[in-house]
Amino acid sequence: MQKILLLGSGGREHAMGAALVRGGDAQLFVAMNDANPGLMRLATAHRRTESNAAEIIAFCKEQKIDFCVSGPEKPLADGITDALTAAGFPCASPSRAAAQIETSKIFMRQLLDRHRVDGQIKYIQTARAEEAIAFAESQNWRVAVKPVGLTGGKGVKVWGDHFSDPQHVRDDIAEILTQGISGHHQAVIEELLEGQEFTLHFYCDGKHAIPSPLIQDHKRAYDRDRGPNTGGMGAYSCENGLLPFVSQADYDAAAAIGPQVVRAMAAEGTPFHGVLYGQFMMTRSGPRIIEFNARFGDPEAINALSVLDSSYVDICRSMIEGTLRPDMFAFRPVATLLLYVVPPGYGTSPVADTPLIIDEAAIRRAGAVPYYASCNFQSETNGLVSITTTRSRTLGLFAEGATLEAARTRVLDAVKTIKGHFAHRTDIGAPDVLAAKMAQMMHLRQRVA
Ligand code: AMP
Ligand code: GLY
Repeated sequence: MQKILLLGSGGREHAMGAALVRGGDAQLFVAMNDANPGLMRLATAHRRTESNAAEIIAFCKEQKIDFCVSGPEKPLADGITDALTAAGFPCASPSRAAAQIETSKIFMRQLLDRHRVDGQIKYIQTARAEEAIAFAESQNWRVAVKPVGLTGGKGVKVWGDHFSDPQHVRDDIAEILTQGISGHHQAVIEELLEGQEFTLHFYCDGKHAIPSPLIQDHKRAYDRDRGPNTGGMGAYSCENGLLPFVSQADYDAAAAIGPQVVRAMAAEGTPFHGVLYGQFMMTRSGPRIIEFNARFGDPEAINALSVLDSSYVDICRSMIEGTLRPDMFAFRPVATLLLYVVPPGYGTSPVADTPLIIDEAAIRRAGAVPYYASCNFQSETNGLVSITTTRSRTLGLFAEGATLEAARTRVLDAVKTIKGHFAHRTDIGAPDVLAAKMAQMMHLRQRVA
């Protein structure tokens, strides 16, 4: 029996915990901020912290933990992996230095440059307004403007979305450079990428990067991709491991990028161990890199781990030890849909402490599986679980199916069983939405440059 410490308390971590105990050869221990009822049920013991390294190490010693894995990026950025490893607890997550691939946009872009990695885009990093504006002008103002530093994606502004006039671009650049964001007075300006975004997770052991089925997340709060960006409202994947707008050749091009990045990081003395999340834009000229994250996506981890038929425990061990092999991965060829139930007002002014009642048996009767996210457990009576919301995503509803439509029907039936006030998207994976995405890609590919 292996004893595993998992850090984090969201839907992603509930799915990671469920995957770790699935084979029956692991005992789960969790360091978490929220009282996630799903994780509390799976865990042999838990501690209510995700950030106090001394407390987490003491917990590991007390429980004689074999290895650790982190769900979120924050503990990685704070160096928890380095502290745990130094204390004798190996981690299936990257060191603070390797996590810079996520925490520093400029580290990532410069690494891609130095090693001529495929999928790189045109960009400039500067503290000088004239230089930033000259670059934007050279792109006909079709740019994305990003403050340097970790902003949770919130500081990013994109032409056609947030900007429609060159003056807006100038003003935004001036604001970042004069006011500064989280102590940095620098901006990254990138060429505008047009197309459809997709997620490709790579499982990495310092030397190898094994690609996995594609997933599409939905960041906007409201249907038809309207409203503010969020952590992700839901995600789907298809039975062939591709997406309707990504061909096998496009997949192969994106899949070749993970190994290039892992080789580059090893060559620079910051080997990457753990899941590397590639966020790509499928453009008319092939997949391009938007960003990398040093962890699973949330919600994408739920789609990803639900179709993994092989042992996630063995994969974690091999990510630590440098012994990953492609034959350690068996993904079920089914479609998946994950939909997040969120507090009312989520995206602008989410209402915390909203009570919800979850009838798990009814969710399962609908053919779906509940994954608790950021919520607080209140009580459980006759199989009805009472929780309250926080300001973040509350509960994931997951289903798989022979087709995406079958999975979607199950999830939409499951949503109807939840009692209380909440919000959710209704269009994720809908046939007309997929058709519109395919039409957009077709249009981009046919457009004369
Ligand atoms: P990021 O924080 O880099 O993930 O950016 C947040 C969001 O901004 C992404 O999910 C994209 O939708 C969008 N975005 C970022 N960079 C670009 C780009 N170069 N072109 C178009 N959209 C972008
Ligand atoms: N699903 C987006 C993220 O995890 O960053």
